[in-house]
Amino acid sequence: MAKRAVKLDPDDGLIISEVGSWATEKHARVQRYIEISSATRKKYIPPPSWHAGAAYIELFSGPGRSLIKDTNRIIDGSPLVAYKAAQASVPFTEMHINDADPAKSAAVDTRLRALGGSPICYSEPADVAVDKIVAALNPSGLHFAFLDPYNLEGLSFEIIRKLSKLKVDMLIHVSVQDLQRNLDEYSKSGGVFDTFAPGWGAHVDRKQAIASFRAALMKYWIDEICKLGTTPAKGVELIVGSKGQRLYWLVFVSGHSLGRKLWEAIRDPMKQTAMDL
Ligand SMILES: C[S@@+](CC[C@H](N)C(=O)[O-])C[C@H]1O[C@@H](n2cnc3c(N)ncnc32)[C@H](O)[C@@H]1O
Repeated sequence: MAKRAVKLDPDDGLIISEVGSWATEKHARVQRYIEISSATRKKYIPPPSWHAGAAYIELFSGPGRSLIKDTNRIIDGSPLVAYKAAQASVPFTEMHINDADPAKSAAVDTRLRALGGSPICYSEPADVAVDKIVAALNPSGLHFAFLDPYNLEGLSFEIIRKLSKLKVDMLIHVSVQDLQRNLDEYSKSGGVFDTFAPGWGAHVDRKQAIASFRAALMKYWIDEICKLGTTPAKGVELIVGSKGQRLYWLVFVSGHSLGRKLWEAIRDPMKQTAMDL
C-alpha cells in the first residue's frame, strides 16, 4: 500500500494531521472549560509558593495543527487551543503533552514554544506517559486533562485510574463509532473492552440485544469511574457528523462539584444525551 504523504502547514513547515470538521466542536469545549474555570485555577497558582499548581495534560495530543478534510482550512489542534485560552485568562503552571508519534510530539513542542510556552513533551504510548506525568505533578494542584484518542483501544481504564490520583478534571473523548462498529471484536476475551472497562464480563450480559449491551457497558464504565472518587457530569455531550452520524461523546469527569457545575454551564444543552446508542 502506498504510504500517505506527510502534510505540512505552509505557515510553519511542520506536520499537520487531518481531521473532520467536527474537531472544532471538541476544541470549543476545551477552550470554554479553560476560560470558565480560570478563577478556580488562579487559586492554585503561585505566588505564594506553596500553591500546588494547575497543569494541562494531554496524552493523545496530535501535532498542534490540523487540516480539515476536504478543505484548505488549517486549524489549531487542542494543545494550542488550550495554551491560547489559558494565556488569555489564567495560564497553566505546566503543560504535559504526549503523543506516541515522535514527529507529532516534536511538532507540537515547536509550535507551543513558538507561542512562548514551555511544554514538557513526551512521545510514549499513553499508558507509559501517564506514569511520568502523574509522578511529575503535585496531587494537591488542580489539573485538567483532555483525553482524545482515536478509538477505544487507546483509552485504557488504567489511564483514568492513574490520573484520578491527582486532583484533576478530565474531558474524555469516547468514540461512539468505534463502539458501534467493533462491538463483536472488542468483546472477545482479551479484546479491547478488557482494557477499556476491566471486569465488564462479570457485570454486563453479552447475550442481550446489541443496543442494550452497549448501553450497559457504558453504564458499567461510568460506574467504575465513579468508584475512583471522580464523578461524571450529568449530561455527556454527543458530537455528530455532517450527515447526522453519531461520532463521539465528550464525557466530563471531576472529583469536585464545582468542576461539574462549570461544565454544565458550558456544554450545549441541545446535545445532552444519555449514553445509549
Ligand atoms: C484524535 S488525535 C488527537 C487530536 C488532538 N487532541 C487535537 O484535537 O488536535 C489522536 C492522537 O493520538 C496519537 N496516538 C495514537 N495512539 C496513541 C497511544 N497509544 N498513545 C499516545 N498517543 C497515541 C495519534 O498519533 C494522534 O495524534
